[in-house]
Amino acid sequence: MQALVLNGYGGSERVSIAEVPQPEPLAGEVRIRVSHAGLNPIDYKMRRGDMRLIRKLRFPQVMGQECAGVVDAVGPGPCAFAPGDEVFVRLDKDRMGGFAEYVCDRVENVALRPKSIAPEVAAGVPLVALTAWQCLFEKAKLERGQSILIHGAGGAVGRMAVQFARRAGAVIAATGGEWAEPMVCKMGASRYIDYRKQRFDELLDKYDVVLDLVGADTLDRSFSVVDE
Ligand SMILES: NC(=O)c1ccc[n+]([C@@H]2O[C@H](COP(=O)([O-])OP(=O)(O)OC[C@H]3O[C@@H](n4cnc5c(N)ncnc54)[C@H](OP(=O)(O)O)[C@@H]3O)[C@@H](O)[C@H]2O)c1
Repeated sequence: MQALVLNGYGGSERVSIAEVPQPEPLAGEVRIRVSHAGLNPIDYKMRRGDMRLIRKLRFPQVMGQECAGVVDAVGPGPCAFAPGDEVFVRLDKDRMGGFAEYVCDRVENVALRPKSIAPEVAAGVPLVALTAWQCLFEKAKLERGQSILIHGAGGAVGRMAVQFARRAGAVIAATGGEWAEPMVCKMGASRYIDYRKQRFDELLDKYDVVLDLVGADTLDRSFSVVDE
């Protein structure tokens, strides 16, 4: 099969399309025929070697962290999926491999794709959605009725966070560019601050949670709006 392979840390010259063996699913794994793959900033950071302290690659490495497709084969033994299932997946960090015709992964990483989400959309959902979910519910333990300020709400992670927070019943204020205001308010923010025109720390106070997707000065100024 063909795959996008990284041959060493560096620039795009280290990436090539190569013929590699088709993977075989082990027990507890499925093989997916990939129709779409998500391209995320983490892909170029991995390529450059920015993450090598926490995830050292062995070359050649088939790239790709997330994808959508159809289950093509299952490993030996019982399996929650069957050939023909339409799925999407955040691939195991230690394996990756979504930029290929086929990829194998553990069933725990795989989910059935809702019919309402097209595969080209679903392929880009796992990384941003998991990031937002982990921040809101695993770290911040956001609960119904709490207030949350989300910085960078118009961005990839921010949009997910706004929708999850709304579904959880939180009261949402958001910062971002002017262009994103209608979208972010439609998704659930009741207050929106255009960061180029206004300073959020002069307008907001006593928030239960701040999710900062911007950093630097925005993080420093966020402490003053948190309810202590
Ligand atoms: N994407 C992922 O899967 C992922 C996973 C883990 C961690 N992260 C981290 O999460 C953060 C956000 O990532 P992302 O992918 O969501 O980025 P993104 O799609 O580029 O969105 C960033 C958003 O922040 C807005 N922004 C810039 N400066 C701002 C400011 N001072 N105040 C308020 N909003 C501001 C931008 O609006 P304008 O365009 O109008 O400037 C943009 O909409 C990054 O630190 C990233 O490393 C991302």
